[in-house]
Amino acid sequence: MKTFLRSLALLFSSSLYHSSVSSAPSYAANKFCGVVAFLIFYSAACLHQLAEAETFTLGYLTGSQRTPGNLDYQRPGITISGAISLAVKEVNEGELRSLGHSLDFIVAETYGDEVNSIRQTADLWTRQVVGYIGPQETCVHEGRMAAAFNLPMISYYCTHRDTSNKQDFPTFARTRPPDTQISKSVVSLLMAFNWTQVTFLYLDHPDSLYQPVADTILSILNCASITVRDVKTWNTIYHHGFMANPFVDLVEQTFKNTRIYLILGHYYEHVGLMVALYNRGLLDEGDYFVLGVDIEQYDPSKPDKYLRGLLLEKRDTRAELAFQSYLAIFPTASIKFAEFAKEVNKYMELPPFNFPNPLGLFGGTKQISAEAAYLYDAVHLYAKALIKVLRHGGRPRNGTAIIEAIKGTKYRSAMGYHVYIDENGDAAGNYTVLARGLTCNLKNKTVPGLMPVGTFSQTQSDKLPFF
Ligand SMILES: *[C@@H]1O[C@H](CO)[C@@H](O)[C@H](O)[C@H]1NC(C)=O
Ligand SMILES: *[C@@H]1O[C@H](CO)[C@@H](O)[C@H](O)[C@H]1NC(C)=O
Ligand SMILES: *[C@@H]1O[C@H](CO)[C@@H](O)[C@H](O)[C@H]1NC(C)=O
Ligand SMILES: *[C@@H]1O[C@H](CO)[C@@H](O)[C@H](O)[C@H]1NC(C)=O
Repeated sequence: MKTFLRSLALLFSSSLYHSSVSSAPSYAANKFCGVVAFLIFYSAACLHQLAEAETFTLGYLTGSQRTPGNLDYQRPGITISGAISLAVKEVNEGELRSLGHSLDFIVAETYGDEVNSIRQTADLWTRQVVGYIGPQETCVHEGRMAAAFNLPMISYYCTHRDTSNKQDFPTFARTRPPDTQISKSVVSLLMAFNWTQVTFLYLDHPDSLYQPVADTILSILNCASITVRDVKTWNTIYHHGFMANPFVDLVEQTFKNTRIYLILGHYYEHVGLMVALYNRGLLDEGDYFVLGVDIEQYDPSKPDKYLRGLLLEKRDTRAELAFQSYLAIFPTASIKFAEFAKEVNKYMELPPFNFPNPLGLFGGTKQISAEAAYLYDAVHLYAKALIKVLRHGGRPRNGTAIIEAIKGTKYRSAMGYHVYIDENGDAAGNYTVLARGLTCNLKNKTVPGLMPVGTFSQTQSDKLPFF
């Protein structure tokens, strides 16, 4: 086939050459010959491509149903699944299509249960999928299976930390950033200000999501040679204005030994520390500074809420003054999410999902969560890697090759900002630095609030991001 094509191409180019140098009478005949040769060449090339056109079928592991008797399961699938249809449709209209291929997916129900999720992972393998999008809540055993099958697995949901280990999980990547990713940005900001000695305060609660983040921050501080002068914790969630302030004691125990405080907890707990420092008179001279860290996304619609307690409506002037000595790092807010949400809602009501929208009659749309964006990102990330592997002559069913093609890449997330995939195949997240500034509140009055002052950028996967 190949030699046949080559000789046709030769014929085609030589006839063109002749036509340009030969005399007028033979020109028409030569041109005709060239056109015929071109047509044969073209149709042969077309057939050649069709013969290799392939549909790549992904397995979508999702929890959208409850097992009989289970009334609690949240079923995240019913509020995000439209995102996979949207992404697959876009991929099929893009670069993959120009290569003559297309993408498709099979839905596999996990009921939010690990055993079902494992069984579905095996079942999809027998159905010859080229990779997995998912799983949802659990991923450790599923990830090991994907490694054994050498199939890529890109989770849009699971944040279990074991799967970051590429020794055991060489074919696993994820688009939902684990909470611990914020730690790198925290350390990078400290270094940007030459703050080499800190006292670290964090919420230490058995069910809290902050514990693993605190561990990661401590280990990265250690690697970066930043001295931790003291570590203190508080154990119950503090609601500023409603209970005794635990930071009064913590400040008393630490202020002699400290200039820079690093606090990890809910934003309204940070208010407690700021007020405690202010009341102790420590903020008057500008000798003390606080870096606040929270893992909940920044809310740009209410910048003033960060300077008071949760549920408190009244402004707190002491807190407003205290926040002059404060910077924060929060996950970046999503941008233009409403348009994306509308599209996802549209596809949710179509096959294969057919999830009804009870609010549709009234023109309302279902609230969709950030995981819809991560699901959408997972499909696009897979497609990009697949194209890269195909172009380099690799095997598309080689999970290691697909994940290698994903590591270290940057993409524009459906969240509206850029995200970097690190050396472990984990989305690095995108974080914003906030400082006190002036803002308009809901009543159109100018009040102080926390405003974005910068983001981080990443140049190399194994390095800390730059502020
Ligand atoms: C941090 O220290 C380095 C070297 O000592 C200096 O060049 C840099 O300007 C300092 N940065 C700040 C923000 O003080
Ligand atoms: C799969 O990809 C990896 C990494 O690119 C490569 O080292 C390996 O040889 C490939 N295996 C097969 C069977 O193609
Ligand atoms: C975060 O998003 C912004 C805006 O898209 C981008 O400039 C920046 O590089 C991103 N940061 C990282 C670490 O990817
Ligand atoms: C807020 O104030 C601006 C200028 O003072 C005005 O143009 C705008 O209409 C006001 N908005 C509301 C909702 O009152």
